[in-house]
Amino acid sequence: MTDKKSEDFIADSQFEPLKPSAKFAKSARVNDDMLFREAQNDRLAFWAKMAKNLKWNSKWDRILDDDKPPFYKWFTNGKLNVSENCLDIHINNGLGDKKALIFEGEEGDTQVLTYKQLLKEVCKFSNVLTKLGIGKGDAVTVWMPMIPEAIIAMLACTRIGAIHSVVFGGFSPEALKDRILDSESKMVITADGANRRGKVIPMRNAAEQALEECPSVEKVIIVKRTGTSYKTKPGRDLGWSELMADANDRFEPVNMDAEDPLFILYSSGTTGKPKGILHSTGGYLVGVNTTFRYVFDHQEDDIYWCTADIGWITGHSYIVYGPLSNGSSTFIYEGTPDYPSRDRFWELVEKYKVTVFYTAPTAIRSFMRWGNDHVDKRDLSSLRLLGSVGEPINPEAWLWYHEHIGKGKCPIVDTWWQTETGMIMITPLPGLTPLKPGSASWAFPGIEVDVLDDNGNPTEAGQRGFLVIKSPWPAMLRTLHGDPERFENTYWKQYPGLYFTGDGAWKDKDGYLWIMGRVDDVLNVSGHRIGTMEVESALVEHPAAVEAAVIGKVHEIKGHAITAFVTLKEGYEGSDELVQELKSHVGKKIGAIARPEEIFFTYELPKTRSGKIMRRLLRDIAEQRDLGDVTTLMDPQVVATIKEGYTEK
Ligand code: WTA
Repeated sequence: MTDKKSEDFIADSQFEPLKPSAKFAKSARVNDDMLFREAQNDRLAFWAKMAKNLKWNSKWDRILDDDKPPFYKWFTNGKLNVSENCLDIHINNGLGDKKALIFEGEEGDTQVLTYKQLLKEVCKFSNVLTKLGIGKGDAVTVWMPMIPEAIIAMLACTRIGAIHSVVFGGFSPEALKDRILDSESKMVITADGANRRGKVIPMRNAAEQALEECPSVEKVIIVKRTGTSYKTKPGRDLGWSELMADANDRFEPVNMDAEDPLFILYSSGTTGKPKGILHSTGGYLVGVNTTFRYVFDHQEDDIYWCTADIGWITGHSYIVYGPLSNGSSTFIYEGTPDYPSRDRFWELVEKYKVTVFYTAPTAIRSFMRWGNDHVDKRDLSSLRLLGSVGEPINPEAWLWYHEHIGKGKCPIVDTWWQTETGMIMITPLPGLTPLKPGSASWAFPGIEVDVLDDNGNPTEAGQRGFLVIKSPWPAMLRTLHGDPERFENTYWKQYPGLYFTGDGAWKDKDGYLWIMGRVDDVLNVSGHRIGTMEVESALVEHPAAVEAAVIGKVHEIKGHAITAFVTLKEGYEGSDELVQELKSHVGKKIGAIARPEEIFFTYELPKTRSGKIMRRLLRDIAEQRDLGDVTTLMDPQVVATIKEGYTEK
């Protein structure tokens, strides 16, 4: 998908665009170009109009403050509360008994919370947090399985003005530790254990390895999920249910400034250190509220299911804040799609009559491989709209998704965005946009993007370039936590004044955008961002490794598979045991998602004369391509030797 030649582009764009059916378009939120025209007329007025869909306690006095780029501010001096916009307002509008959160556990246990019930839980937990000394501006780390308590904790943080930092449950204790320390969290919320494919993962015990080295953490709240035992640290550890048992179920939302930080979410970048992406209150909520409504065509009786984990931005924006601020019913599932059997997701769609389903291409490719029987034996007739996110979707997977899951009648919204953008940026609008399989189509109304060449000129149709965002947008990241300089350097320096996405893209003759994936040293493994440097740093921390180069090898299901080339210290011999050891070492440092699929030992790595590792050559070797020009190498022989060894392996 990434290393394409231009004739492949042309082939991809040959599909006849698929128009929405008259039936879908008729009742769709958007079926004409009104929104586009309004935004084009006056972009800021458009966003101000969108902002009015939320409840503000005081109105902003400026829509966009662009006095100090790239440190933009939105809705200056506006005041609001996120949880109030996600809960109270719907209850006041008569939706109190509507299902807000529908949950099913891996073992089939279920829980439904109406808007009224969810508000009560959130208020109770807000009181718990406040009593424990957490207040406005304090950071709270959430390391939890996909259970309702995780969402209650997030919403309670927003109610009291605390900043949540949700860490993906699959990250290792070491990765958790780095994130707790970087965010300076005073509190960690976790669970005793998590259910994973029929096994129990002892989360709280694992967290202890991190907590031992996190002196800033004063309190740890533990949800009882699996009944796994752990040794309590008196004075620090507290049980969720005990705390909630006598908590008051009313809590006045704290009035927050539009620019107050809402959450930090760590994401991989091109160095070994993850970036703490900081989002703020007002603009973020306007962005996700608006995009959820129009991209997922929010209808009153929808049962909406986004299969992401709340540990990623997709979980934040399109499981929690987008759906709930629109008064939708959001479904969450604790487990994986293949447990106890490979029809689990379709069983859930059938059981809960899911209407809108949002997942990642890597999952779709797995479903394809597992075969149509798992899909065909379930009734999927409730589905009306499908979505895709996380990586480019190959036309073959798109067409399968359309035919076998959507039965030919559901539009697919291929949504391009990032942790940094906070909200969907490029996407079809399902009742309007003719779809081309594999293209995310155009920018959302009020969003301005382009594809530029090396000199900053817009590319011609069919010519590959870099995707940029040309003007600020409400849900944009405000900075990198504790590192404003890195914020400026990473995103705003390549093309001064424009936001650099780090993605390659091209436009076709109809103006459709085709995203090609990352152009930097960030891999997309099963829709998750992993920095090559992060994995390399983890590898060289092992006593046997001197140097490591990590590349993403194109992989049928995962998009990229991590392949590592490692040189060993004198006295160490490459062996299968060492391969296993290094793989587990990376798993321990970062998490299972970063474990290399392949490790290859080499006596040296190919470097340019200035000492830069030529990852491109290693990728060519791993994907068995011709090596092309190697004359800039310090020692061309190195490549020949690696190639020989790799092919023989
Ligand atoms: C990639 C996930 C093509 C892209 C929301 C981006 C996509 C990175 C798409 C962000 C898509 C996401 N088509 N590529 N529809 N969606 N990407 O921060 O490379 O986890 O830069 O945010 O995923 O990943 P992140």
